[in-house]
Amino acid sequence: MTNIQKRKIVIIGAGHVGSHCGYSIMLRNGADELVYLDTDTEKARMQAQDQDDASSLLAHRVRVRAGTYADCADAQIVVMAAGVSRQPGQTRLDMFDSSIAIMNRIVVPLKASGFNGILISISNPADIVADFLRKRLDLPKAQVFSTGTSLDSARLRRILSEILGVDRRSIQAYSMGEHGDSQMIPASHIFVGGVPIRDYAAAQPELLQKLDFGAICRQDCASGCDIVDGKGCTEFGIGMVCADLVQAIFNDERRILPVSTLLEGEYGQTGVHAGVPAVIGKNGVEQILEIDLTPEEQKAFAHSCDVIRGFLARADQ
Ligand code: LAC
Repeated sequence: MTNIQKRKIVIIGAGHVGSHCGYSIMLRNGADELVYLDTDTEKARMQAQDQDDASSLLAHRVRVRAGTYADCADAQIVVMAAGVSRQPGQTRLDMFDSSIAIMNRIVVPLKASGFNGILISISNPADIVADFLRKRLDLPKAQVFSTGTSLDSARLRRILSEILGVDRRSIQAYSMGEHGDSQMIPASHIFVGGVPIRDYAAAQPELLQKLDFGAICRQDCASGCDIVDGKGCTEFGIGMVCADLVQAIFNDERRILPVSTLLEGEYGQTGVHAGVPAVIGKNGVEQILEIDLTPEEQKAFAHSCDVIRGFLARADQ
């Protein structure tokens, strides 16, 4: 018998976010088997069936089904997408109490399953939930991280692309810190085709005027709320972010993506999960990149970490 390993992913939470993660992974041929878990077992079953029907029309093979926590034992990746939906007007931090209560219920069977793969956490508040899960599951830090500011960074590239009139694939830009209102943008490290953005815009005064990074950061932060206000949830963006991370892991790409990982001295921060650019490969977070922030950016990043830390203390109680 040849030793062929199936790429298996368990998605915990079959709501808007979980199902869009699963669907994006499926469309990108990111897994051989996708398993949904939800307290609403019928919803998990039907979400899986609907998606499995769609898989009949794909050029590649993927099986989608509902399962139990026992499925986590041999899953290489678990995606944590459980939680209540954010209501219009709520910040992600407002979801703290309900999320931690839900996570407390989930960690027990998840740990008991013997899961020892990579956990991509999405549930909000993202940085705090990831920290909570890493500690409670007692897994190495490389294996438990959150999508963090990956989605904010994707939104940032959309906003910059609209301002600059340059394709977003030619723009390198990160949001860092909290996946929430205190996040920051290291403007000194935004590159357009390899050129620092301020140099790129220098020759075009009308562009320079529009490059108000404070306003851009606020617009980036507000994007998630705007979508929740308009349609009740966000799903497509986060689904694609999750599929991107899955691809980086299964293909051992060692791609640099901003995720919320435990900092142990990087950027002068310790004992806090925050969004930073990191090398993502088959072992999860393989390296954290320390970009050279200006003193002002360093201060903004430290402030964001303090906001996260304030909530961490409550989660540990
Ligand atoms: C968002 C959610 C996933 O920003 O936090 O869309």
